[in-house]
Amino acid sequence: MGTVTAEEAELLARLDTARLPRHVAVIMDGNGRWAQRKLLPRVAGHKVGAQTTRTIIETCARLNIEALTLYAFSVENWRRPKTETDFLMQLLREYLRTEMPLIQRNNIRMRFLGRSSELPIGVQQDMKAAEEKTAGNGGMVLCLALNYGGRAEIVDAANAILAERNAQGSNAPVTEEEVSQRLYTAGLPDPDLLIRTSGEMRVSNFLLWQIAYAEIFVTETLWPDFNRARLLESFLDFQKRERRYGGIGEGGSDSRVPRVAGE
Ligand code: FPP
Repeated sequence: MGTVTAEEAELLARLDTARLPRHVAVIMDGNGRWAQRKLLPRVAGHKVGAQTTRTIIETCARLNIEALTLYAFSVENWRRPKTETDFLMQLLREYLRTEMPLIQRNNIRMRFLGRSSELPIGVQQDMKAAEEKTAGNGGMVLCLALNYGGRAEIVDAANAILAERNAQGSNAPVTEEEVSQRLYTAGLPDPDLLIRTSGEMRVSNFLLWQIAYAEIFVTETLWPDFNRARLLESFLDFQKRERRYGGIGEGGSDSRVPRVAGE
């Protein structure tokens, strides 16, 4: 884990590494407020937010988390001023270039979730290159949700199933497994922990299908201030929760549901 502070060491000692979440999803919120509080332009918050992203990715990879999904840009984010959306697209391209050594060093495989064909062509090319360069890595799967919307994702899955049914001349009823397998996250376990920074109690159209049983951790900390210690705290909080999946808890006969279609 590299150099560990006394606070991090204390948190790590309390963590049960055998019971970490398999898939962590994060709504990285509060970059703008962080900048405003420091009388800086909003984009300064995004720049520092990108540095936070690096710390969180590396920490999760080193703790052998299976998948980390970060909400980097939503379908709704196009409503922001063009200067800000242009900045975010440029920051992403820079990020994919400068962070590649860290991604490779940690054996991370990259995936992108969202309607990628609507993104600027240069961004699409960089995304494709990042996926290809990391395709052989067997460690953590890092998903960046870009031009992502949870409802759009479900609609895309429904349309894919409809097209298959039409091609097969079939009117068989749709199953949950079929939907799961056509989401952008196909093949990944559903997130078991959803973290949202900056205090908002909203899901904001993020992974609507997949978070059905996720534990939700909301912190007042703004994303640029969310560091390794805060991440470890969220894992400790997760380990305190009793997960029942609609059942009656430990010893109950139906206390588990599969987390991956077919598992
Ligand atoms: C939310 O803060 C953040 C975003 C919409 C963009 C997320 C981008 C980053 C964390 C940095 C870049 C990341 C990568 C992967 C390159 P906000 O602007 O909505 O904050 P506010 O609610 O305080 O205004």
